[in-house]
Amino acid sequence: MDMYQIEGAKSLRGDVPLSGSKNACLPIITAALLGEGPSTIHGVPDLFDIRNLRLLVEHLGASVEFSDGTLTIDPAGVNRDYVPYDMMCRMRASFYAMGPLLARYGRAKVSLPGGCAIGDRPVDLHTRGFQDLGAQLGESNGYIVARSPGKRLKGSRLSLLGSNGTSVGATCNVMMAATLAEGVTLIDDAAREPDVVELAAFLRAMGARISGEGTSTIRIEGVEKLHGAEWTVCTDRIEAATFAIAALVTHGDVVLRGAVRPHLYSTLLALDLWGAELTWVGENDLRVRRSRHAKHPLQVVTEPWPGFPTDVQSQLTVLLALTPGESYIRETIYPERFKHVHELKRLGAKISVPEKGRIQITGVPALRGAVVKATDLRAGAALVTAALAAHGTSQIRDIEHISRGYENLEQKLIDLGAGICTLPVADSDPGLDGHTHHDTNDAVSQADPSELETLAGDVV
Ligand code: EPZ
Repeated sequence: MDMYQIEGAKSLRGDVPLSGSKNACLPIITAALLGEGPSTIHGVPDLFDIRNLRLLVEHLGASVEFSDGTLTIDPAGVNRDYVPYDMMCRMRASFYAMGPLLARYGRAKVSLPGGCAIGDRPVDLHTRGFQDLGAQLGESNGYIVARSPGKRLKGSRLSLLGSNGTSVGATCNVMMAATLAEGVTLIDDAAREPDVVELAAFLRAMGARISGEGTSTIRIEGVEKLHGAEWTVCTDRIEAATFAIAALVTHGDVVLRGAVRPHLYSTLLALDLWGAELTWVGENDLRVRRSRHAKHPLQVVTEPWPGFPTDVQSQLTVLLALTPGESYIRETIYPERFKHVHELKRLGAKISVPEKGRIQITGVPALRGAVVKATDLRAGAALVTAALAAHGTSQIRDIEHISRGYENLEQKLIDLGAGICTLPVADSDPGLDGHTHHDTNDAVSQADPSELETLAGDVV
């Protein structure tokens, strides 16, 4: 297993090209299964999650080519409706196979999905939405088995409101399922995130009749067929936010190339209130640096779009850990998403958890290098950000989590002047603190296609 070694306290300076959005890309890849012909998607980041989803759609029978950020998917050969546990447990987005399979083939058998360990992540809103479209669902040996009794699903009016608000995943999945349903579907309480808007636009390019995306009611008029489409995915707003915060904590001066201004609204609002100097130097190029004004502690609540994104909560924690005064963050989407807190304390941050779902951050003048462990993707991003700011050397273990969501992170940081390299971790590695490291990594690994093949069953 590898780790990052970071020599901190170096200002990040220069330009960073943003990659395509992981969370926008994932549902677009499975949506391509709905088309009668091949789809070509540009701007696809080369990430573990993308590679694993590619293996999944190939397992279903689609042929896929991926080079230089362009992914071509031809679903002509799809001949399975079954996704085995070993594939589903690698990531949450594998559940995105269910909507297209049900819509196009009327059947799907998928195991419950995996994903980042950030708290309870049920799929009840997805399954409820499919049932509202007329699918019959059952559970058998850890698998969800879904069938459409008629040839096509039936359009319906449904709500996707859960106890924690709206759901990005359920909105995408049900929207995909409804594109080929008979009649009109109205999704109330739909998620409004850019990922949903991007998927709707791609589906429209495939011939779907969708309107209202980006509002809380989406209207889908089912069509009999969809065709393949060509699409360029928007850049990653969470990657943009991560680099922006890394620039601020290192007293740097960074231009984010390819940023989508409306996608960054709430993140930039928070950074502006904190005291960042944010200048659009081109239509999609944002310069980020500290202003001369005082840095303000903040009280931030994570919320569904257009609120402050949960995926930037851990990185913001690092910024506030270095901001004089008391800051607070309330996490409403994943109230247990604070695994980074324990690790940030190793670097000298002062953070307490006064109640479930809320942290209090007391600013300290500086962080110091330490050995820490990434427990999930964004917790890992926060640790990299903190280590870049910290004085001395840090080692970040279990970086496989980070590779799920950040393309070429190491090279992009080196190009900005960071002191970062990847090193192998031996079981007996004493780390910086002299203690032996025992690898507790439970990260995703690459699929072993032969193993998956033997698990594969049902033929569509
Ligand atoms: C997406 O997850 C993202 N993942 C997450 O990003 C992101 O944190 C999350 O949206 C919120 O923005 C992908 O796009 C692959 P949700 P998703 O359904 O769709 C509850 C990252 O770091 N819920 O919007 O799974 C759920 O527990 C990742 O890139 C139900 O109760 O999130 C949560 O509290 C991590 N029942 C809330 O809704 C359901 O059936 C929002 O979850 C589904 C969700």
